[in-house]
Amino acid sequence: MNLKTDSLEFDARPIGVFDSGIGGITVLRELVKAFPEENFIYLGDTARLPYGSKSAETVRKYSLQNMKFLMSRDVKAMIVACNTASTQVFEDHFENTPVYNVIDPGSALAAAKTLNKKIAVLATRATIKAGSYVKKIHAILPDAEVLSQACPLFVPLAEEGWHDDPITNLIAFRYLQNLKTSDIDTVVLGCTHYPLIKSAIQKVFGNHVQLIDSGEAVALQIKSDFLSQKLKRNSNRDVSLMIALTDSSEHFENLSSQLLAPVSDTKICFETVSVI
Ligand code: DGL
Repeated sequence: MNLKTDSLEFDARPIGVFDSGIGGITVLRELVKAFPEENFIYLGDTARLPYGSKSAETVRKYSLQNMKFLMSRDVKAMIVACNTASTQVFEDHFENTPVYNVIDPGSALAAAKTLNKKIAVLATRATIKAGSYVKKIHAILPDAEVLSQACPLFVPLAEEGWHDDPITNLIAFRYLQNLKTSDIDTVVLGCTHYPLIKSAIQKVFGNHVQLIDSGEAVALQIKSDFLSQKLKRNSNRDVSLMIALTDSSEHFENLSSQLLAPVSDTKICFETVSVI
């Protein structure tokens, strides 16, 4: 169904967002907060989570399948909310539809915010291995010191909903204690799951260190594309919020509803889909 309006100014089609699991809901939350008048469809590839421990080839294959699925739902733009997937999606357009990754805006925001040019990137093993954040931050700030730390256990803690929990604090301390002594002033949350355990990460570094959330960064980029009319806004009053999962999960439904409740009172429609 093509909901595109006749007007050149408006486009009622949804914005598509995908991630491997619950983490991308942190990006969706920022987008819904920034653009409450837009329709969204979120794809969580829960059947194949985690992406962060998989090979680059597999992550790219899954990402292309996810993008094809979103295209079948007639989206007007696609957000690769997953950092791991963002390291393997090189296209800025897919079948003529704009594609946004989270690494470009996250790197730009970190480079803009750091004062002492000492930045840490926390991400999955696959994202750290790809080195995308380091390359992109160095392209903006060649003399920046960028340290990387893979924190694989953060993903299951976020999926479990242990967001403010003594065990999460302990694991955060174990992963981050060495970075703490490196005089870093900016930390990139280079995995969409990490904003869910932000308070544990902030506790380790202290409040003087700023945490960069890729959801906020990509929302800023989309805002500027709406302003320049590169992307057209929705003109309808009724908005829809759809969450499609490749494996049904009551836990996911409850957690995502809880996370989105503060930013939206739109009823969420959940659906189980196949992307293969
Ligand atoms: N959400 C993914 C990311 O941003 C990580 C979760 C996973 O390993 O699937 O990298």
